[in-house]
Amino acid sequence: VKHLLGIKYLGEKDIQLIFETADHFKEVINRSIKKVPSLRDITIANIFFENSTRTKLSFELAEKRLSADVINFSAGQSSVKKGETLIDTVNNILSMKVDMVVMRHPNPGAGIFLAKYVNASIINAGDGAHEHPTQALLDSYSIREKLGDVAGKKVVIVGDILHSRVALSNIFALKLQGAEVKVCGPRTLLPKHIESLGVGVETDLQKALNWCDVANMLRIQNERLDISYFPTTREYTQQYGVNRKLLDGLDKEIVIMHPGPINRGVEITSDVADSKQSIILNQVENGVAIRMAVIYLLASKIKQ
Ligand code: CP
Repeated sequence: VKHLLGIKYLGEKDIQLIFETADHFKEVINRSIKKVPSLRDITIANIFFENSTRTKLSFELAEKRLSADVINFSAGQSSVKKGETLIDTVNNILSMKVDMVVMRHPNPGAGIFLAKYVNASIINAGDGAHEHPTQALLDSYSIREKLGDVAGKKVVIVGDILHSRVALSNIFALKLQGAEVKVCGPRTLLPKHIESLGVGVETDLQKALNWCDVANMLRIQNERLDISYFPTTREYTQQYGVNRKLLDGLDKEIVIMHPGPINRGVEITSDVADSKQSIILNQVENGVAIRMAVIYLLASKIKQ
């Protein structure tokens, strides 16, 4: 395959190959070798139709560390505002001899659609509430780094599961690697048939935290929310916010994750987010090595 459209399309062996490749790049970066010449003949366009801090910067840095040529496109400052379609936009970019497109888009399936109509390698950097594959890869990689393995670990994903591409990609990735997965949140923010993905459901946060080795705290996706069925922010924080008192009441020290951006004081308090139990910034650090690995492996298909 020359695309990364979702974890759904990967096998366990693909994930292990990405992790081994990321291990290599992480080791290279840690030796202060910040640039390798691997992709000097590859040009990559990062096209973002939705806001991003971590994913956009991390992809750009990963591409530059591989010595690729990079162009960046933000829909808000582009001719999309004058009515240009997605396919026209991308085909115009590709006519400048671009080999790979990293795309974030608000519509679920936008990357799958694009891959059918344009002749380039497509990486999904988040498509609506559907998938965010590189986030799930860096999340599993960070669990593996912290706990030695993902297989057999108990992971709870807490929050707005219904609107979260991070949740869906994490469920696919964790299950593929043999982790036990539960989701936890208010019923209104859980998809109706989530159990069919092989995950447990827990609506009591304390019980979920008592069960798990790792808690991945998600923010409420206000931009995708129908406000009429949402508990108030205060109610949400009371029932589903993780805080120091909750963690101190557990009989073991669990690992705290968050994909960012954090809403401090809503789903997580600062004393938890900034504690030594938290691997939030390790996730961000690992994102660069994971994205270098994904780009490097896909580029090898282009070169064939
Ligand atoms: N985790 C994540 O996707 O963050 P950004 O929206 O800032 O890219």
